[in-house]
Amino acid sequence: MDFIPLAKPNILDSDINLVVDVLRSGMLVQGKYVSELENSFCQLTNAKYASALSNGTATMHLALIALGIKKGDEVIVPALSYIATANVVELVGATPIFVDIDIRTFNIDETKIESAITKNTKAIIPVHEFGLACNIEAIMLIAKKHNLFVIEDAACALGALYKSKHVGTFGDFGSFSLHPRKAISSGEGGVLISNNEEYDKKIKILRNHGTEFIDGKMDFTEFGFNYRMTDFQAALVFSQMDRLNQSIRYKNDLAAVYFQELNTEKLQLPFIPEFTTHTWQTFHVVLENTVNRDNLIAKLKENNIGVNYGAQCIPFMKVYQNKYGFDCEKLFPNALRAYQQGLALPIYELVTTEQIKYISTTLNKLNE
Ligand SMILES: Cc1ncc(COP(=O)(O)O)c(C=O)c1O
Repeated sequence: MDFIPLAKPNILDSDINLVVDVLRSGMLVQGKYVSELENSFCQLTNAKYASALSNGTATMHLALIALGIKKGDEVIVPALSYIATANVVELVGATPIFVDIDIRTFNIDETKIESAITKNTKAIIPVHEFGLACNIEAIMLIAKKHNLFVIEDAACALGALYKSKHVGTFGDFGSFSLHPRKAISSGEGGVLISNNEEYDKKIKILRNHGTEFIDGKMDFTEFGFNYRMTDFQAALVFSQMDRLNQSIRYKNDLAAVYFQELNTEKLQLPFIPEFTTHTWQTFHVVLENTVNRDNLIAKLKENNIGVNYGAQCIPFMKVYQNKYGFDCEKLFPNALRAYQQGLALPIYELVTTEQIKYISTTLNKLNE
């Protein structure tokens, strides 16, 4: 069996040809594909507005700035996610307030959110972790009750639905990443969606150094950034949009094979609650505490299977430990367990059913 990487984007010749067209046109940054991509995100998600940016961290960073989140404010984030979810809060000078996850879904435990709210809380960033929609309806009710903004971190969840509505369209903003480990990829890239014209206008100004045209004259009205997406990146991912749903269906088939083949004596399978759909950005299992996860990762690699841990317990990371010194075992036991005993298994378009069976059999044997 050849080495099976943890992830590999499926880039077709037709995708590459579109990129080559852009490169030949000479319009590398201000061509047509950025707006084509934005339009197709609106079509897919049913959001009114979309802004393509340089990555899925920039999207959340600008969302926080556009909402006026600043020093002294608190923003609720799940204790398990990719570290960017909390870093953007730090980057605007605000304080991330971590809330533990539900160990079955790996999403924020919404029942623990209200007790984390203080008079300084301004926003919640729920994450649709690993491609599974979180309980966004309950979170929106809490946000409404306490007058909080919501930025949905849907970096991994393009195509995921909650009660048939696309994730990212419930909150003030929905943020998507187009990194190669995501369902479709522009290399680096991100898209921020919203139903609020003013917010979107601000994002488009902020991504372009604060540039605004007033009475046809260019001026600079904000301290902005260069968070623009190049046109060849937009072209690369634009041509993958049509295959998204087919790819999610295929990954659901692969997930079904894992569900059938994996021995659950010493590991916990993913759980999909009612009303949610999973897009399987990651197939994430949690091993028993008695299993040495890192040894298992090494042995799986020896058997040509690329695996890794799934996501960080962010408050456990050095930079957060140095600043806040959280007792994560006590405060975020589920996030810590998912970080320390979690295992992300290959699931993507270029992996076959036979390979999933091989991964399952090998894992079952090594995890006996
Ligand atoms: C949950 C989550 N949020 C944010 C990000 C950041 O996205 P990007 O890498 O495009 O900046 C990622 C990327 O891995 C992620 O998984």
